Amino acid sequence: MTPRVLTPVPGRHPGPAAPTSARAAAAGAGRVGSGLPLVTWALLLCGATAAATVGCAAVVLHLLGGLDASAGAGLVVAGLGAAVPACAAGWAVAGRWAAALTAVSTDDPTDPPPGPGPVRSRELAELTRSVATLRWRLALSDELAERRRLEAVAAAAGVQELVAGLVAAEEGARGQLAAELHDTVAQSLLLARGLLAGPPLTPPSLATLADHLEDADEQVRAVMSRTRPPALQDGDLAAAVSSLRADLAARYGLAVDLHWPGEPVPVPLAAAVTVYRFFQEALLNVVKHADVDHAEATLDVLPDGIRATVHDRGSGFELELVRSDRGRSVGLGLLRERARLSGGRLDVCSGRGHEGTLLQLWLPRPVRSEALTRIPAQRSRRPA
Ligand SMILES: Nc1ncnc2c1ncn2[C@@H]1O[C@H](COP(=O)(O)OP(=O)(O)OP(=O)(O)O)[C@@H](O)[C@H]1O
Ligand SMILES: [Mg+2]
Repeated sequence: MTPRVLTPVPGRHPGPAAPTSARAAAAGAGRVGSGLPLVTWALLLCGATAAATVGCAAVVLHLLGGLDASAGAGLVVAGLGAAVPACAAGWAVAGRWAAALTAVSTDDPTDPPPGPGPVRSRELAELTRSVATLRWRLALSDELAERRRLEAVAAAAGVQELVAGLVAAEEGARGQLAAELHDTVAQSLLLARGLLAGPPLTPPSLATLADHLEDADEQVRAVMSRTRPPALQDGDLAAAVSSLRADLAARYGLAVDLHWPGEPVPVPLAAAVTVYRFFQEALLNVVKHADVDHAEATLDVLPDGIRATVHDRGSGFELELVRSDRGRSVGLGLLRERARLSGGRLDVCSGRGHEGTLLQLWLPRPVRSEALTRIPAQRSRRPA
């Protein structure tokens, strides 16, 4: 910011460049004391000097004997009488000239012209205003600089957030892919391997083996095309869970009591997929680990979300002792990750103090009603 320069106001300061004090002194030198012109004083001085000279001459003549005493005394008195005002006038004029010369020699050209009183106060007011303006502009520029700094910080934070979001999204996509593979292909191949490892295959078990392999093939294609689970192709969660239940009963003899909401509830597709994978993993765990042939599966619609539960009264397990090993025993961990990515959580109750195992998934429901209307319809009719 360019500082304001005070420029003299035309007509404000009298006269041209000559120092005012010298000018005033010179003007004063033209007048003496009561204001008589200098010329008058000079004439007086000359007259008095002449009178004094006459007096002195009379004294000299008297001393030489050229004048008698009374005439000489008269001349002396007259001369002395004239000398007194002459000296006074000379003294005054000399004093004036001396003052003028002193003023000329001591005037500092850098001094601001003093000027008359009102002019000075106007300048002071102007100066104060300028300083206030300067301060205001400085404060304004400081505020602007601070605002730009904050904007830069916010922009940097936004970029960081974006990068973090991209990384999280990539991680999420990888996690979902892993979960998808685990929940589908891995399970079908595991069951197929179990059949092959068992007693010699009969025609029915061969057909089951073929089913597992066919499932695996279908699931791999579904994962590759990143589509929803085959059972959820038409977007009906109730139908998909119903189909899963029938499948588990037919293949493994597991009876599942299903508790489903009476009223239809729209559920976002992502949440529907997560809920379906939860039922699938939890019920397959019952088949694989619980050593029972019965389980309960429930879907509850809560004010703030949806809750899916699977409960068996089987052997139970100590959660702290479960360790995933090179890609094995990762089902519960992946479920937990799925829940986290959807903004929900997974609770596991098993082991000491519990009868069997209870798995519970909670997912939040979309807050905005328009989000509910835009998602594919997830009919929640009671499964057959
Ligand atoms: N309903 C259950 N009853 C008894 N034990 C269970 C039950 N569910 C899980 N477990 C125990 O918890 C462990 C971890 O389960 P998790 O689903 O994570 O892995 P997994 O089923 O062994 O393998 P996968 O990775 O194929 O799912 C199981 O190995 C089992 O010991
Ligand atoms: Mg499992």
